[in-house]
This record gives sequence, C-alpha cells and structure tokens, in this order.
Amino acid sequence: MATNRTFTMIKPIAVSNGFSGAILKMFHEAGFRLISMKYLQMTPGQAGAFYEVHKDKPFYASLVEFMSSGPIIAAILEKENAVEEFRKLIGATDPSMAAPGTIRNLYGKNLTENAVHGSDSDENAELESSFFFSGIEQYPVDHSG
Ligand code: CMP
Repeated sequence: MATNRTFTMIKPIAVSNGFSGAILKMFHEAGFRLISMKYLQMTPGQAGAFYEVHKDKPFYASLVEFMSSGPIIAAILEKENAVEEFRKLIGATDPSMAAPGTIRNLYGKNLTENAVHGSDSDENAELESSFFFSGIEQYPVDHSG
C-alpha cells in the first residue's frame, strides 16, 4: 500500500540559480505539506553514500561531484500517494523528456543537473528521509493540542 510521504532534494543548480522559492511554491500549490526541511551542502562522501545504489553506473562520479558542489534543500513532503504524485509533478528524469510545466521541464538543465530529486518508491522515501532527518525531525511533536 502506498504511504503518504516522499523525500526530495532541490539540487545545487536550482538553489544557486535562485529557483528554490519557485520550486517550493510548486510543491505547496500541488498540495504537498512540508514535514521537514534542511539547507545544507553535502560532502562528496555524503553524496556518494546517498547515491550508493548507482555506484556502478557511468554517471556516478559526476553525479556525486555535482551533488556536493553547492548547497541543497532536503525535505520530506506529505500528500496522499506522495511518491507517485510527486513524480508526476517533477516529470521525467531527463529534463528534455519531462512534460511541459513539470519542475524538471521548467528548471532542469540536463540528466544530472535535473533540478530536483524525488524518491522512486515508498521504501526509498523512508530510507532517504532517514539519511537526512532524525526521528524527531521526521515526526515532530504536535504543539496544536
Ligand atoms: P535523481 O532523481 O536525483 O536520482 C538519481 C540521479 O542520477 C538522477 O536524478 C539523475 O540526476 C542521475 N541520472 C540518472 N540517469 C542518468 C544518466 N543516464 N546520466 C546521467 N545522470 C543520470
């Protein structure tokens, strides 16, 4: 059964080009609720660990170099059927193939510098969220009551 959370990163190219605000607005307008968010720069070792599943791919080294080249915004988002809905919002991995109006179509430059990351499964959404956020950050105390 689909869970209601996904994990995203706004990648260095989008942050350095000043697109973070517009991208966060698109998350909000598509009905995603912000659960946790961080602004940080990964070391090459951290980026390598995050993308370890791709370590045998030819693009791994350039992906790691790019993802550690500047600050990113990492966030956990909530919406019903979040993983699938978010992948629709961001579009295909390759910006040149991403549907018009999707985030990667609007703000991506190429396959590596494709503006945003989005989890590809519920299992990876949990693993990736836990890579960046502690338990208390993922499940903050509700102060409303
Ligand atoms: P992301 O959603 O962050 O997940 C893995 C990343 O690997 C992907 O976005 C792309 O940036 C990158 N990637 C996937 N396939 C290729 C490829 N064929 N060439 C270069 N980069 C790729």
